[in-house]
Amino acid sequence: MRKRVGMSVMAFIVLLFVAACGSESSSGSNDKEVYTLQAGHSLPDDHPYHLGFVEMAKNVKERTDGRVIIEIFPFSELGAERELTEGMTLGTVDLVVSSTAPVTNFVPELEVLDVPFLFNNRESAVEVLEGEIGDELFAAMEEQGIIGLSWAENGYRHITNSTHPIEKPEDLEGVKIRTQENDIHLAAFEALGAQPTPMAWTEALTALQQGVVDAQENPAIVADQYSLYESNQKYMTLTGHVYSVAIYMMSKQTYDELPEDLRDIVVEEGQKIGAVERDMIVEMEKESIKTLKEQGMEIIEEVDIKPFQEAVRPVYDQIEHQDLLNRVLEAQQ
Ligand code: PAF
Repeated sequence: MRKRVGMSVMAFIVLLFVAACGSESSSGSNDKEVYTLQAGHSLPDDHPYHLGFVEMAKNVKERTDGRVIIEIFPFSELGAERELTEGMTLGTVDLVVSSTAPVTNFVPELEVLDVPFLFNNRESAVEVLEGEIGDELFAAMEEQGIIGLSWAENGYRHITNSTHPIEKPEDLEGVKIRTQENDIHLAAFEALGAQPTPMAWTEALTALQQGVVDAQENPAIVADQYSLYESNQKYMTLTGHVYSVAIYMMSKQTYDELPEDLRDIVVEEGQKIGAVERDMIVEMEKESIKTLKEQGMEIIEEVDIKPFQEAVRPVYDQIEHQDLLNRVLEAQQ
C-alpha cells in the first residue's frame, strides 16, 4: 500500500487548528492521505475477476472521495496465484482474487473446496460458501494473514487435450496433464490414471505449446480467453469435475494499516463484488463454449460423469479435514 499526502496549505492550517483544539477522530482519517492499494490476479482484463475489481475500485473511489485508489494488475503481473497469496501474507500485495486451489497451500482447511464433484450445483455451492462453513473458512484465512472479502468463482473446470476425445476415465490413461498446484487436484488426476504435473498458470501455456503436457483443465472462459485451440488443444470434455471457487481477499496487514472509516468502505465493497463476479461468469461461460466450437475445438458435451466420480472417490479419504468435508456434503442433502 502506498500513501500519498495530498494537502493544500489551507487544509494544513485547518489541520493544525483542529490539532490545537485537541480534536481527535477515532477513525484516525481526518487527514488527507491518499491510499493506493495494489490488486493482483492471473487473468486478462476482460475476465470477470478483473471486471469485479474494476467495479470495486470505482465504488471505493467514489465513496472515499478519492482517498482510496485501487490499481489493478491482471495477467499475473504481480505474480501467479500462489505468489499473490504469499504476497498478501507478507503485506506486499493488498488485494487479490484467486481460485482456491493455490491458496490451500497457505490455508489447509480450504482443501475441502477442491474435492472433485463436491457441490450438487452452483446454488448449493453458494449456500455453503455464504453460510457458516464459508465463515469458518474465512476465519481460518484470517489466522494466516488474509481477510476473505467475498466468494467468487471461475466456473466449472473441464479437461482439454491435444490428442483424442476423452469420454471415459480410461481415455485419461497416461495423459500428461497440467494441474494447479494443489494436492487434491494431483491426487484426483492420478486416481484417473493420468500423469499430472502441477505448475502455475504462467508456465502452463508454454508447456502446452511445447508438448511438455498434452492436456490441462480449466473453465471454458479460460480456454477461450487464452485461445487454447492455438496451443494444440483440440478437444474439450465437459467433465465439470471441480466447481472452481475463487475468493476476493485482502492482506491483513493492509486491513490493519488503513484508517477504520476507509477500511470499512473497502471491506463493504469487497463483500459485494463476489456475487457480481459470479453472475458475469455464468453469462460469459455459454459464450465461451460457443466461441471454442467456432474456433474448431471438438466439445464433448454428453459425458457420463458417473465413472469419473467413482474413480476419484478414494480422494475423499485423503482429505485431512474430514469433519469439514462431511459438513459440506451434509449441508447439500
Ligand atoms: O488453472 C489455473 O491456474 C487457474 O484456474 C487460473 C487460470 C489461474 C484462474 O484462476
